Order: sequence, then C-alpha cells, then structure tokens
Amino acid sequence: MIYVAGGTSFLGKRVVGKLLNNKKELRCLFRSEAAKYKLLDLQKKNRKKFDLVGGNLLSTDSLIYSLKDVDTAIYMVRLEYVEFVKNFINAAVKCGLKRVVFISSTTTLLPTENKIKKLKLQSEELIKKSGLNFTILRPSMIYGGCEDDNFYKMLNFIKNKGFFVIFGSGKNLIQPVYVDDVANAILDVLENPSTFGKTYEICGKNAIEYNEMLKIVRNKLKRNFKIIKLPIGASKLAVEVYKKIVRKSDFNSDQIERMKIDKAYSYTEAQKDFNFNPISFEEGIEREINEIGFNKKK
Ligand SMILES: NC(=O)c1ccc[n+]([C@@H]2O[C@H](COP(=O)([O-])OP(=O)(O)OC[C@H]3O[C@@H](n4cnc5c(N)ncnc54)[C@H](OP(=O)(O)O)[C@@H]3O)[C@@H](O)[C@H]2O)c1
Repeated sequence: MIYVAGGTSFLGKRVVGKLLNNKKELRCLFRSEAAKYKLLDLQKKNRKKFDLVGGNLLSTDSLIYSLKDVDTAIYMVRLEYVEFVKNFINAAVKCGLKRVVFISSTTTLLPTENKIKKLKLQSEELIKKSGLNFTILRPSMIYGGCEDDNFYKMLNFIKNKGFFVIFGSGKNLIQPVYVDDVANAILDVLENPSTFGKTYEICGKNAIEYNEMLKIVRNKLKRNFKIIKLPIGASKLAVEVYKKIVRKSDFNSDQIERMKIDKAYSYTEAQKDFNFNPISFEEGIEREINEIGFNKKK
C-alpha cells in the first residue's frame, strides 16, 4: 500500500494518475472536505478507486491512524512547513514505514540566503537523521497543464494582454522541469535500491536564458508579443511602494532580486541511478500549449 501526502497538489495529481496506471494500491491523505472532493474527482478522472483517509499534518496522532498497514509513502507537501515534516516523520517511524520519498526543491541550492531555503534545508536535515529509508527529490520550477502556476499564468497573460514584462536583462538561466518528468522520477525511485538514502536534483533537459525561453514561447504560441524589460532595482522599489498602497501583490522584492540568479543544475546523478531523461523546454511547452488548447481555433 502506497500512502500519498499532497495528492491534491499540482504535482500530486499527476503522481496519483501514474501510480493508478501502474496498478498500485493507494491511500491518499485529505485534511478537509474540499480536499476529499478533489480526490474523489481524481478517482472519477482516472476511473479507478483508491483509499481516502482523513488526517492533518498539524498533528502526529492524526497521522498514525492514517498510516496503518502502509509500507511506502510519498510526501509532496512543501518542506518549508518544518513542523509538518516533524509530525510526519514521527508518525512514519512509529508506524514502521519501510520507504518514504520526499519532494524538496532546488530552492535549497540558491547561492543567496532566504527564509524558504533555510526552512527546506532544516526539513531535509530532519529527514536525513530520521532513520527512515528515504529519497529526497529536488525539482526545479515545475510546469505543464492548466494547474501549473508558473507558465500557465504566463501564457494566459500573453494571450490576454499581448505583452509580457520581465525584470532585468533576461540573460539569467532557468531550467524548468515538465511535471510528468517529475512524476515519473518519483515512480522510478520508489523501489530502486540505488536511490535509497540519497538526494537528487530533478530539472529540465538544458538550462536556457530567460530571453531564449520567451523566444520558444513566441514560436510555439505562433503569436508575436512585446517584451517589456524593467530594471531590477527600480522594479523592487516600485513593488514595495505598490504593496504599501494596495497591501497586496503577486511579487515581492526578494522574488525580483532572485530573477538575477542563474538557476541551472546538473542531473547526472539521477541519470546514473535511475535513468532520468527529461524533455526539453521546447517539447514541454508545446505539450502544455496543446494540453490547454491555446492554439485551437474557436
Ligand atoms: N510547483 C513547483 O514549481 C514546485 C517546484 C519545486 C518543488 N515543488 C514541490 O512539489 C511538491 C508539490 O508542490 P505543488 O506546487 O504541486 O503543491 P501545492 O499546490 O502547494 O499543494 C500542497 C499540498 O499539500 C497539502 N497540504 C498542505 N497542508 C496540509 C496539511 N496540514 N495536512 C495535509 N495536507 C496538507 C495540500 O492539500 P490541500 O488540497 O488540502 O490544500 C496540497 O495537496 C511540494 O513539495 C513542493 O515544494 C513544487
């Protein structure tokens, strides 16, 4: 029996679909009625049943019942919630789980310090010291389909407004990873002893400049759009002023500052241990555009 925490997440839904296709017996955790309905929808979409169990990462006790008779778990809840990780580890150890795969992120590799990076690293340390038979996967920015918070929003913005705004020169590198490549990696490490006790970076095929990424998007969307480049310093100031007045913004100045940083990673270890072979951004964004139906004639 495979236990899934975070089955209602963007990534989690793909993972659940793939596990069901592989005829795995599943149990998914839900913490609210809304989450339970999302899982029931997932059953309908996949035309397959799986166990649903109520519980909350806020407490170890509520997890112990849900982990009864489970030997393997996949944990896809953000690792910055360190208390959740502690509670889950306590419950997993008490219930004698034999195998747990945790999803972290390449935020842990940023060259600059920030709160999220610190908290995720704290959780990774707890996992490593837990005594559990773990594997940690660290995906870069994940994209694919209409639940992708990153590129779906961007494609919609371009479609509706006819332009796109970037902060800085656009020469920074990015290496987003397609959601199915992350989901496949999770399934591939699950029973693979070469991956036990190890941590892997999971990212797209190649790192590309932000400017190059926009060129690919333009080609695949078959639509010309303007690119407005704003200097980083002035943008940070503008966002802070905007937040003071409106008290709400999609961005904060730290996020803008991080846009200067190259986010390029190596996945050699993953390639070596479980044949990780991700698709290129060109292929991935084309799949996303087709999946969403952006280029379909009305
Ligand atoms: N998205 C990315 O670009 C990206 C990049 C790198 C790594 N990751 C990692 O991939 C994983 C999934 O990310 P995502 O963006 O797809 O996730 P997400 O949309 O943020 O979903 C978070 C999940 O955690 C569950 N959850 C939160 N609090 C909980 C609690 N107290 N008890 C039980 N469940 C709780 C949520 O359930 P509800 O349905 O109840 O809210 C949901 O299933 C995370 O570990 C994330 O750090 C994501």
